[in-house]
Amino acid sequence: MGKKRNIIVGQSGGPTSVINSSLAGVYKTAKERGFHKVYGMLHGIEGLLDEMYVDLSTQIHSDMDIELLKRTPSAFLGSCRYKLPDIHENPAFYEKIFAILDKLDIEVFIYIGGNDSMDTIKKLSDYAIVKGHGQKFLGVPKTIDNDLALTDHTPGFGSAAKYIATSTKEVIRDAMGLSYRRKTITIMECMGRNAGWLTGSTALARTEDCCGPDLIYLPEIPFDIDKFLKKCKDLIQKKPSIVIAVSEGIRVPDGRYVCQLSGGSDYVDAFGHKQLAGTADYLAGFLAGELGCKTRSVELSTLQRSASHVASRVDINEAFMVGGAAVKAADEGDTGKMVVIDRVSDDPYMSAAGIYDVHKIANNEKTVPRSWVNKDGSYVTQEFVNYVEPLIQGDYQPFMVNGLPQHLVLKR
Ligand code: F6P
Repeated sequence: MGKKRNIIVGQSGGPTSVINSSLAGVYKTAKERGFHKVYGMLHGIEGLLDEMYVDLSTQIHSDMDIELLKRTPSAFLGSCRYKLPDIHENPAFYEKIFAILDKLDIEVFIYIGGNDSMDTIKKLSDYAIVKGHGQKFLGVPKTIDNDLALTDHTPGFGSAAKYIATSTKEVIRDAMGLSYRRKTITIMECMGRNAGWLTGSTALARTEDCCGPDLIYLPEIPFDIDKFLKKCKDLIQKKPSIVIAVSEGIRVPDGRYVCQLSGGSDYVDAFGHKQLAGTADYLAGFLAGELGCKTRSVELSTLQRSASHVASRVDINEAFMVGGAAVKAADEGDTGKMVVIDRVSDDPYMSAAGIYDVHKIANNEKTVPRSWVNKDGSYVTQEFVNYVEPLIQGDYQPFMVNGLPQHLVLKR
């Protein structure tokens, strides 16, 4: 009997509300293309090193389960932030991984992740080529940050942008209702360490029934706290309530994160990324002290990447598409590549899956172009809004049970 054609898939990095739709796309396409077993790594490559994996057919029993998985936020299989050593530094590490892959008769290895996770695909595919291993290694894009190079956008971003724009509208309404006798300043904080795609998406709240945020600060532009104070002072004299959106990653000109100005956490992950939080809180305290008005901070935190109840239909469908496209590409002989999303047209919005060399994507960050931010760095332009708008369209209704959304949960 010939070698079994098995696939293994893992999830890595910060989760999104549609990362499991990509997993569902991998599973469904693998089964349709006749792969024998589809294994899921538990907690990505870190778990695989401890031989932690499941046969996904023990978890997904029907088309209904596939639909539930598409609507389940966070990493179904568990995620990790694990940096692989360089090949020459630790060959034993690679021998161990390939021994596990050989034991499981793995023909295709798929990793759903962001730019750090694509480093894993790059290193494993390089090693396989150098050592003559036959496995194929494919990346599936994922990140709410939308900072992956060579893809028009990343799955996860559209749904996070939709949640952020929706919440911005709701926060603005709340602030307006309360500001009758007391001036209030509300500061909203969005994720996206070095890329302001998520924070800029608050501008989508500017609609016929909402004025949108008053100011938007992205991490791409150095943050001038004196100019910021002056702008807030001018605005709050004219309006009873102002709402400001800031990225968790804004920095003062000397390079320090704003959230570090009051201390903050020293935690750093395997890729050297500092944990960022507390920017809005710091600025709310600062403005209260300087302007003597009521201030409030709203940190969207993990809500923005797990709000699958308000996911975008476009996003869920594209996440599913790229999962399937990775299986197809590997089955047709590709390796060391990542699937990308190409924008085919804007009106009507259409996209298609493409494929790119992962070496050009791993460890790169795509930031918001300077021309999509206004001159003084306090708002995004209409081009920015036009780019994001198609990605938040449509709904994917959750399956509600007893008033709450139902999720598919791993059974161990
Ligand atoms: O990787 C995406 C992301 O959501 C970033 O926007 C954010 O800075 C980071 O993850 C937070 O990571 P963690 O949940 O590991 O603290």
